[in-house]
Amino acid sequence: MVIGRKHLAALVLGAALVGWVIPWSGVIGISASTGHWKLTDWFLHWAMRSSVRTSAIGIEVPPLEEGMLPMAAGHFEGGCALCHGSPAMPPPASVRGMLPVPPDLKEVIPTWTDAELFQIVQHGVRFTGMPSWPVAEREDEVWAMVAFLRRYPDLDGASYRRLAGHAAHQSRDQGRVLETCNGCHAPDRLDRDSLVPRLDGQSQTYLRDSLAAYAEGMRPSGIMAVAIQSLTEQERAALAVHFSERTVRGVNAVALSNQTGRGEHIARFGDLDRRIPACMSCHDRTNGNPAYPRLAGQPAAYLAAQLRLFVDEKRGGGPHRALMAKVAANLDDSDIKAVAEYFSARDPSADAGPDHIVPASVGFSSRGR
Ligand code: HEC
Ligand code: HEC
Ligand code: HEC
Repeated sequence: MVIGRKHLAALVLGAALVGWVIPWSGVIGISASTGHWKLTDWFLHWAMRSSVRTSAIGIEVPPLEEGMLPMAAGHFEGGCALCHGSPAMPPPASVRGMLPVPPDLKEVIPTWTDAELFQIVQHGVRFTGMPSWPVAEREDEVWAMVAFLRRYPDLDGASYRRLAGHAAHQSRDQGRVLETCNGCHAPDRLDRDSLVPRLDGQSQTYLRDSLAAYAEGMRPSGIMAVAIQSLTEQERAALAVHFSERTVRGVNAVALSNQTGRGEHIARFGDLDRRIPACMSCHDRTNGNPAYPRLAGQPAAYLAAQLRLFVDEKRGGGPHRALMAKVAANLDDSDIKAVAEYFSARDPSADAGPDHIVPASVGFSSRGR
């Protein structure tokens, strides 16, 4: 018999019908309780590994730095430990019912490259419950998580808690919101290499605007989105009041690098030929607009990272963000380094305006530091 077009068409139609009837009949189980067959399990995981390996090809790994660890550890506690557990805590019993069960990361991390971990954390794993990063724009945050995961297999409970700050153990207790914030933001945890900003002494207006921008997705950050996801607008406002009322403390004198001469020049006078305005015409003046953030005393790494986000058009922000985006467009990498060093080394209490210096804390619920 010659196989003609008609036979082929019938075959395709038949296959399609069977492919439709079988799932329609309901014989394919979708309940997680029964688990997969060993073979299915093996096949799915093999397919997942292959997919990750292929999509990680060509991803370039940036330098993974020490300063990335604390913020990523704090986020791990709030956003990952609930499924994977942590060195300080076994995973909750409820996730044992997930299919697949979230793996113990200590065991699996060594089997992945940095680029593959980036791919998994950025995009998640379909059909498994492993979520993608909450915002698509912030590859820098995902790389920070990769830096942390690389360290993860070597962490014990104590070293994990040290990195994750007060956030460890407390992030799931609604009454302890403030401790969660301080787990990442406590000034004594922040040195110049930190990617987390200080909040103490920032104006109430700027803090409130920033929290609203995170909540509404106008300032993309997966880390802050998760940190404030359960807060109401009133709670956010109360937190803005609390942190603005913390006394501003000076930074420890940081050795000024030879970059700061240039940084100070840009800060005070700008570079008009290159259409860079004086930063201090908006920032850190005694009578500054409270919607403009204080930069003095912020970690240099944080300031530089935010400026790069502005340059890459990924920063977002509050209602006045467009002003800053325009300024940043003309900064090159060496300008960014120089101004970040300069403002970081500047004493924040020296030029705080009326909106910045406030009497002792009448705080949110606990005492300010
Ligand atoms: C809702 C539960 C859940 C959350 C939250 C979660 N994961 Fe997962 N994760 C999973 C599951 C389930 C898998 C297994 C996927 C698979 O085997 O295909 C997984 C897999 C992984 C893997 C790959 C491990 C392997 O070899 O299978 C990594 C790495 C990972 N998660 C890291 C993270 C990080 C980092 C976070 C936080 C940003 C996170 N996960 C948040 C459930 C979760
Ligand atoms: C897991 C660590 C972590 C936790 C927990 C956390 N933050 Fe943040 N916070 C960050 C990071 C990182 C940034 C910078 C994000 C970015 O790139 O925009 C930030 C930025 C901010 C900003 C913007 C400051 C500025 O100078 O622009 C405010 C305001 C803020 N956080 C308030 C809070 C409050 C209030 C809480 C508690 C509800 C909190 N954060 C919890 C890590 C954290
Ligand atoms: C015309 C006013 C204006 C000028 C000039 C200006 N800025 Fe800004 N800047 C802003 C505003 C407004 C924001 C807050 C954006 C937001 O998050 O809503 C900001 C935010 C920033 C931030 C982020 C701070 C944080 O806590 O996240 C940095 C860093 C910064 N500016 C650096 C500079 C530098 C460096 C210069 C000089 C080269 C400069 N700015 C000049 C208005 C200005």
